[in-house]
Parts: sequence; C-alpha cells; structure tokens
Amino acid sequence: MNERTALVTGANKGIGKDIARLLAAEGFTVYVGSRDPGRGQRAVEEIGAGARLLVLDVTDPDGIAQAAAQVDRLDVLVNNAGISPSLAQPTDTGVEEYRRTYETNVFGVVAVTNAFLPALRRAPHPRIVNISSGTASLTWSTTPNPQFTPTSGAAAYRSSKAALNALTVLYAQALADDGFKVNALAPGLRATDLNPRAAAAGGDPAEAAQGALRLALLPDDSPTGGFFSWDGTPVPW
Ligand SMILES: NC(=O)c1ccc[n+]([C@@H]2O[C@H](COP(=O)([O-])OP(=O)(O)OC[C@H]3O[C@@H](n4cnc5c(N)ncnc54)[C@H](OP(=O)(O)O)[C@@H]3O)[C@@H](O)[C@H]2O)c1
Repeated sequence: MNERTALVTGANKGIGKDIARLLAAEGFTVYVGSRDPGRGQRAVEEIGAGARLLVLDVTDPDGIAQAAAQVDRLDVLVNNAGISPSLAQPTDTGVEEYRRTYETNVFGVVAVTNAFLPALRRAPHPRIVNISSGTASLTWSTTPNPQFTPTSGAAAYRSSKAALNALTVLYAQALADDGFKVNALAPGLRATDLNPRAAAAGGDPAEAAQGALRLALLPDDSPTGGFFSWDGTPVPW
C-alpha cells in the first residue's frame, strides 16, 4: 500500500474535523476517529473523498486495540481528542475532574500512541501531532506579563495539557532515531464546543488546523519535540 494514511482522534467535529479535511485534501486516506459512529459517519460524508470512519474512544482500551488492528500503516497520528469539563480554579476542582480530564487528554494520548506505534513504524516518515494548548504554557502563565492570569482557571484542563507537553518531549526523544517527528500544537482560541470560552470565541478552527497540517507534513530536517503556535511560531514551555 503506497497511499499515505493519517488518523485524527476526535475528528467528528471542531478542530479535528478541519484537520481531517485538510489531510484528505492533501491526498491522505484519513481515518476520522470518532467515539460515536453516527457523528463520525456524518463527518466522513461531509469531508468526502479520502475520509474513512474509525470508531475510537480514546479512553476505551479494547476499542483502541480493535481500531489499531484495522490500520496497517500510519504516516500521521494527530492526537486531537480532548475535553475541558470546567474553567474552575484549582481550589474549586476535585480530584475526580482531574481524573476524567487526564483520562482523555493524557492517558488517552498515551494509549492511542502506543497502540498505533507499530503502524507508525511501517511509515517512512512518521509524524505525531499532539493538540495541546497555549494555556498549558507555564511561561505564558507566569511573570513577566502573563497571557493567562490567575483568573484564567481551567486547572484540570491546563495541567493536563502541560502533562501532554511533557509527553511530547519524551516521545520525541524516544523516537528521534527512528525518523519520527513528534510535536505539540497550540491552536489558539477557536469557536468550538470545547468549553464556554471557546464557544464564545471568534477564532476559526480551520486556521488552527493549518498549523496541525504543517506539523503533519514536516520534512525530515525539521525539529522534533517542539511546541508551536498555529502560525508556526515556537511557544515557550
Ligand atoms: N477550541 C479551542 O479554543 C482550543 C484551544 C486550545 C486547544 N484546543 C484543543 O483542540 C482539540 C480539539 O478541541 P475542539 O476545540 O475542536 O473541541 P470540540 O469541538 O469539543 O471537539 C473535541 C473532539 O474530541 C472528541 N472526544 C472527546 N472525548 C473523546 C474520547 N474519549 N474519545 C474520542 N474522542 C473524544 C469529541 O467527540 P464527541 O463529539 O463524541 O464529544 C470531539 O470530536 C482538543 O484537544 C482541545 O483541547 C482547543
């Protein structure tokens, strides 16, 4: 099989659907990851040529194994599925919210990445793109002139994405000699269903998807283990 393949988790809507659309337009066969078959199928039909449904709940180990068994070679993995249950401060966030958030945003990424590693290793230039968040930047959250102030909250979500950033570095280092590029994207605030702040935002999800596409198509002499904004500029950890 010579066709290039990509998997985008949580691709039935939002930024993930736009990433899948762009990858399909690039000529990839794109597995549209969706935990709900109906929602996923609608996205597949909307995207059109190149899109295929892959039922995938990133918190379901058996489902992940079944999905991985259906994919022989994978050129690009975009770990996009994510949740943001609340915008609460750490002082108002119970451990259960952290568990639920990390289950999807952190453990889900580990489980999916590990399950698809054999398929990624069959690709000549494997790329992994982790959809993180600028709100996870500890530099942007602290002085001087923090973009995210103490009122920004979303403690479970932001700390989960900081953990994802750490994993991005560790996977990039572990896989560097095997030709992988593993990078994290800060998509910017986009109008999606993620949380009330995103829903009220004006940012176009398709613009963020362009940033993911760039990281998915990185040439071999590109950086790995980095954190980049949607426009390609580096984001400080
Ligand atoms: N929007 C922003 O401003 C913004 C900013 C920074 C980072 N991000 C990141 O961008 C990514 C995409 O978010 P979005 O804004 O596009 O939000 P969204 O519209 O809510 O989309 C999230 C996607 O993730 C899926 N998902 C959630 N839990 C899942 C699970 N357990 N298994 C599989 N899929 C699951 C959702 O599926 P269902 O439809 O089944 O729920 C949906 O397809 C997330 O990682 C988010 O943290 C977004």
